[in-house]
Amino acid sequence: MNGATASKEFLMIQKLIEDKCGIVLGQEKAFLLESKLSKMLEESDFMSFDDLYRKICYWNDPEIVDLVIEAVTIKETFWFRDKTPWQILEELLLPTYIKELRDGSRDKVRIWSAACSYGQEPYSVAMCIDNYLEREGFMDIKLSSFEILATDISRTALQTAEAGIFDNISILRGLDDHYKYRYFQNKGRIWRIDDRIKESIQFRQFNLINEFFEKFDLIFFRNVLMYFSERLKKEMLNKINMSLDPHGIFFIGSSELLNDYNLYFSMEHYKNGIYFKAK
Ligand SMILES: C[S@@+](CC[C@H](N)C(=O)[O-])C[C@H]1O[C@@H](n2cnc3c(N)ncnc32)[C@H](O)[C@@H]1O
Repeated sequence: MNGATASKEFLMIQKLIEDKCGIVLGQEKAFLLESKLSKMLEESDFMSFDDLYRKICYWNDPEIVDLVIEAVTIKETFWFRDKTPWQILEELLLPTYIKELRDGSRDKVRIWSAACSYGQEPYSVAMCIDNYLEREGFMDIKLSSFEILATDISRTALQTAEAGIFDNISILRGLDDHYKYRYFQNKGRIWRIDDRIKESIQFRQFNLINEFFEKFDLIFFRNVLMYFSERLKKEMLNKINMSLDPHGIFFIGSSELLNDYNLYFSMEHYKNGIYFKAK
């Protein structure tokens, strides 16, 4: 994007990205987008920016679509991000789920990590549950009673997530020694998650602007709504509502604010945390 056409091109690409994956790139992100697309140009075989731009506009070349998505998604994540969801899971939800599994009023607990990035979130869920079952001595309830679906739009993030292999730096972010040595094998700079934990999660590429899956008891919808427009956020709330079990709940990130949830959800407080409960 150079010279006189810069702003026209930015507006068109901006609209395209919002239409295709919901992500709103404000005008202040023009420079960021330009530098990311320029990097794509350097690394690919395109002749010119116009060539790249035309291919983006047609949006029918899966390779280009992936490149653009990789360029515009922010995949920041870490283990056991925010303290309170894990506290709520252990202290409020797991005791209830386990009671219901035991008395036969449910046979599964279904959990969705809806923008799982490199996998730290769904792996934290699986480790948290497994550790809880072991610590509390629930020998009759297995991790396999919990179905965990993890999705993201980014192919590269999902590749890392599915491989379950992390480097020395990412392993340090939020993971305490107990979890690190209990659930990972270390070789040199590589940390590989236990197969049992890995196999408890189903990973799938999924764009949140599509129709959601059904029906979940618990949805981690964290640190992704913030990239969407107000209109799309409202649409997402409706879809989360449809996708949750009547008593289901969902989490957002601790630094996120949610408006207009009242129609479908109540906001519940637990210690310093909040969660949203289907009405
Ligand atoms: C900041 S990360 C959040 C990761 C994790 N939930 C957490 O809180 O640590 C945001 C993720 O949302 C994903 N994302 C953005 N737009 C999406 C869309 N339309 N559909 C699915 N995933 C999307 C990105 O690829 C990225 O991995």
